[in-house]
Amino acid sequence: MTVKVTVTGAAGQIGYALLFRIASGQLLGADTPVKLSLLEITPALKAAEGTAMELDDCAFPLLRGIEISDDPNKAFDGASVALLVGARPRTAGMERGDLLQANGGIFGPQGKAINDHAADDIRVLVVGNPANTNALIAQSAAPDVPAERFTAMTRLDHNRALSQLATKLGVPVTDIKKMTIWGNHSATQYPDLYHAEVGGKVAAEQVEEAWLRDTFIPTVAKRGAAIIEARGASSAASAANAAIDHVYDWVNGTPEGDWTSAAIPSDGSYGVPEGIISSFPVVSKDGKWEIVQGLEIDAFSRERIDASVRELVEERDAVKELGLI
Ligand code: NAD
Ligand code: LMR
Repeated sequence: MTVKVTVTGAAGQIGYALLFRIASGQLLGADTPVKLSLLEITPALKAAEGTAMELDDCAFPLLRGIEISDDPNKAFDGASVALLVGARPRTAGMERGDLLQANGGIFGPQGKAINDHAADDIRVLVVGNPANTNALIAQSAAPDVPAERFTAMTRLDHNRALSQLATKLGVPVTDIKKMTIWGNHSATQYPDLYHAEVGGKVAAEQVEEAWLRDTFIPTVAKRGAAIIEARGASSAASAANAAIDHVYDWVNGTPEGDWTSAAIPSDGSYGVPEGIISSFPVVSKDGKWEIVQGLEIDAFSRERIDASVRELVEERDAVKELGLI
């Protein structure tokens, strides 16, 4: 059966890196035909049309149609996957409250449109920043959709952590298992090497403690800013790649003996307040994310997780105060 996939901010950088991969079958698998729905703001519709022309010109065997709209009610109608990429970036002079307010104006109505029009099996991945809190805003506007269908992306951070560790140890990324990003998709995130394994042994024991604390953690956590500095624009192809990884695993399951990272609504595990959309070690089984249970958290990790979760709680409280959730 053809699956409708809605991408917001479709004419942006990430949209351009994402749509062709979805249409080629990499999001849902080589047996699943897709119909693409491109949501954009009115001034960007023409650019979205240009991208749609290029999608047509690829003659992708799995692509069964493209719709373009500036109306969320139409764009999410019948959608089973929603990739919420378009967001309001912070501009000079903008306070945090202004940023949250502006994004509330995007993610609130989109959440409501998903609530009213999406398919019953809708899965939502929020990429647009601040991703965790934007996901919370969309989720709270969609009371009829199970809360766990709203997720935010920390898979890019996860992939960055794999790559940094693999380079340090001179091993292929495939040798690394059980990497975890905890908390917020922000500089407070905690990439955890105390549960990651390389060749079956704890990763933290295979690197110097100073490298782990002073190089690895800040490099992963600040990688987004480093990319902006180098490229003059935020990560696009790697962000699109991570979105593909997140949804593919959500739908098709994570491999036995490994886990990944995703920001999902907390059930209170690991002391993360219930309802906060925080990154955890997760597996996907039968189309659902589950938080990996029973990990021992030492004092160092506890402090790092708590710091990032504190930031998420502050963001939640701020959007609550603004009446956005
Ligand atoms: P971009 O500016 O190139 O594109 C954003 C697009 O969104 C634009 O085409 C804009 O017209 C559109 N848009 C704005 N408001 C919209 C709305 N209400 N409905 C539909 N479309 C709308 O930005 P980009 O590089 O594609 O990045 C998009 C977002 O992803 C940013 O918020 C960025 O910070 C974030 N991001 C997140 C991660 C992550 O790991 N979670 C990684 C990279 C980037
Ligand atoms: C990233 O991690 O690359 C982005 O979230 C950075 C950004 O601020 O867009």
